[in-house]
Amino acid sequence: MTRKPIIAGNWKMNNTKAQASELINELKPLVKDAECDVVICVPYTVIETAAKLTAGTNIKVGAENIAWADKGAFTGEVSAAMLKEVGAEYVVIGHSERRQYFGETDETVNKRTVQALKEGFKPIVCVGETLDERESGETEKVCKRQTEGAFAGISAADAEKTVVAYEPVWAIGTGKTATSAQAQETISYIRGVLKSLYGAETAEKIRIQYGGSMNPANAKELMAQPDIDGGLIGGASLKAPDFSAVVHFDK
Ligand code: PGA
Repeated sequence: MTRKPIIAGNWKMNNTKAQASELINELKPLVKDAECDVVICVPYTVIETAAKLTAGTNIKVGAENIAWADKGAFTGEVSAAMLKEVGAEYVVIGHSERRQYFGETDETVNKRTVQALKEGFKPIVCVGETLDERESGETEKVCKRQTEGAFAGISAADAEKTVVAYEPVWAIGTGKTATSAQAQETISYIRGVLKSLYGAETAEKIRIQYGGSMNPANAKELMAQPDIDGGLIGGASLKAPDFSAVVHFDK
């Protein structure tokens, strides 16, 4: 089974329109020959700018969240129809910062994932343990609960359209990467959870990214692991040469 690698930037709460345009224009020529899928997940306010600037290129655009409801009284939320209109194709769901600061739970992650799939988006569903959970030996338990929670009620056909991002919380933005062996071990465990949900054939098709201080220096080794199919890149996605170097991890 060969899974096409997917490198996605997660800009988080960075870049105004002018900054986004500058970054994307710098990035386009650098990644145009990429052999992997290239995605940038950007703040709502720059999705339209990003989609216009990347039209006809190999760079796909994603949002950083999606509402579970179609419309209505959900102050601060952005619907699938709104995201589609401005050109988002992917959507990050359940990022640990959403879970940590904005009350996102396994249940809301599931509802958003169901909605994203129903509306034709490609979800990037994030799971991962905190430092406390890792140190108390709960990494697998947490990843199992989050993965099963996110995929509840989702068909195998839809699961195949989903990307999972394993992001150990202690490695995000800290410069502390999981070793490639740690990342492989947990990602292979997560694939096992998907296998128990959907069977081997489907589980082998689902792409699982690593995320957490992934950068040009460690991307190659992480990507060489058999179960790591890509990266969700925060800090290093904000500089075009760095993001491009991760995209070209095999060079
Ligand atoms: P980082 O962020 O690469 O800055 O650690 C990754 C993420 O949070 O998606």
